[in-house]
Amino acid sequence: AKFQFGVAGMGVMGASLALNIADRGFKVAAWDRHPEKIDEIHAKHGHPEMKGTGSLEEFVGMLERPRRILLMVTAGAAVDQMMDRLTPLLSPGDVVIDGGNSWFQDTQRREKAYREKGLHFIGMGVSGGEEGARHGPSLMPGGPAEAYALLRPVLEAIAARAESGLCVTHVGPDGAGHFVKMVHNGIEYADMQLLAETYDVLRRGLGLSADALADTFTKWNEGIAESFLLETTLKVLRKKDAETGKPLVDLVLDKAGQKGTGKWTVQVSLDLGIPVPSIASALDARNLSAMKDERVAASAKLPAPPLTLTAEEKANLISWAHDALYAARVVTYAQGMRLIQAASKEYHWNVSLAEMARIWRGGCIIRAKLLTPLREAFTQQPDLPNLIVSEAFAPVLTKMAPAWRQLVGTATRLGIPVPVFSSSLAYFDSYRSAELPQNLTQAQRDAFGAHTYQRRDKPEAGFVHSDWS
Ligand code: 6PG
Repeated sequence: AKFQFGVAGMGVMGASLALNIADRGFKVAAWDRHPEKIDEIHAKHGHPEMKGTGSLEEFVGMLERPRRILLMVTAGAAVDQMMDRLTPLLSPGDVVIDGGNSWFQDTQRREKAYREKGLHFIGMGVSGGEEGARHGPSLMPGGPAEAYALLRPVLEAIAARAESGLCVTHVGPDGAGHFVKMVHNGIEYADMQLLAETYDVLRRGLGLSADALADTFTKWNEGIAESFLLETTLKVLRKKDAETGKPLVDLVLDKAGQKGTGKWTVQVSLDLGIPVPSIASALDARNLSAMKDERVAASAKLPAPPLTLTAEEKANLISWAHDALYAARVVTYAQGMRLIQAASKEYHWNVSLAEMARIWRGGCIIRAKLLTPLREAFTQQPDLPNLIVSEAFAPVLTKMAPAWRQLVGTATRLGIPVPVFSSSLAYFDSYRSAELPQNLTQAQRDAFGAHTYQRRDKPEAGFVHSDWS
């Protein structure tokens, strides 16, 4: 009998997805250029529905038609190489899916190239790490609708099941799925950094231990701030090093790495002219953290202010941090959604933001309770210009803003950097300001470069120039 689904690339994610698909009763053909990897998987998990080979010809021949092949190889040149090797082996109507974190414009190019050959290409965001891939990821496929229809039974079988339903939907054509996954990761960067800033303010400012922080986060996670990343954080804080007995987090070097999706999110935001300062600040925070030696040297030359808290700060810092975290997180998701909305318009993707909130409710790294009201907001008003003015969030943000300001104020006074808390607050304050000082910017531009400006009192005059001397 023929195999119903093929997975090429038996790294951690590929193997986990292949086993997940086989668990759901599909016969899975697996390929890897090191076939011994497949033997290892069999030795460990021994799945009767799965069979592997190191020959691409044999792999393709094992599959029923139209073939469904999931590529789980490193994003970049490896995807193009695999596609080129597969092309002569495929038949019209076959579907190849790229499940890596690929650049969406590569996906657009690849989709077009396959379409011209009579083949289907789907770029699919996969979130949830190894655990998600094995037991229920959030899936963000983009590409031709008829190809999605062929994949749907398999994707729906393996996706996470949340209160909002199955965490998969057809995101849109060509690069839409990979774009949405990229923005998911951008939001992930900002949310992680907000948690790191919260940890820093409460640890250094208030002197809380890792365990006390974990207790606080456990309480928060029972309320509106509930999220997978908060839960992960409290688990991390609880972990003790086996050798020293110290909190393991204290032994981790404070230099953050990255693989590029956060950077892409910021690059695209600049191209589209859509501000995402929370994500940009999180990216900068990682880059600054990497300058460890310079920071150590600078710390000897640039002393910090004294770490003394007022009685009011001592009594309130934890509750301020809670509200600030929630509010800044809302602003971060709002920026991400706005970016997807702009790209969807630019590329004619017709992405449903309510659907994105629905499929992010389970399985993925940024799953969080706030996605439920967020989805509701975009269901009621699909073209909502900004989440922060929605009926669901405007009153909450207004209520939480004073605590958010206190948190940023205290941290700033103590010299504890809170780049995402403060840039999110500046975004919030800018967006809710009817008046901004860019009248001065325009006047400056006209004064030194005759760049012209518009008059408030004479809009019909259009762009005018003045002599400012
Ligand atoms: C997920 C994650 C996953 C990953 C990225 C980003 O959704 O499962 O977003 O894709 O964590 O690789 O990681 P970096 O922090 O290394 O850029």
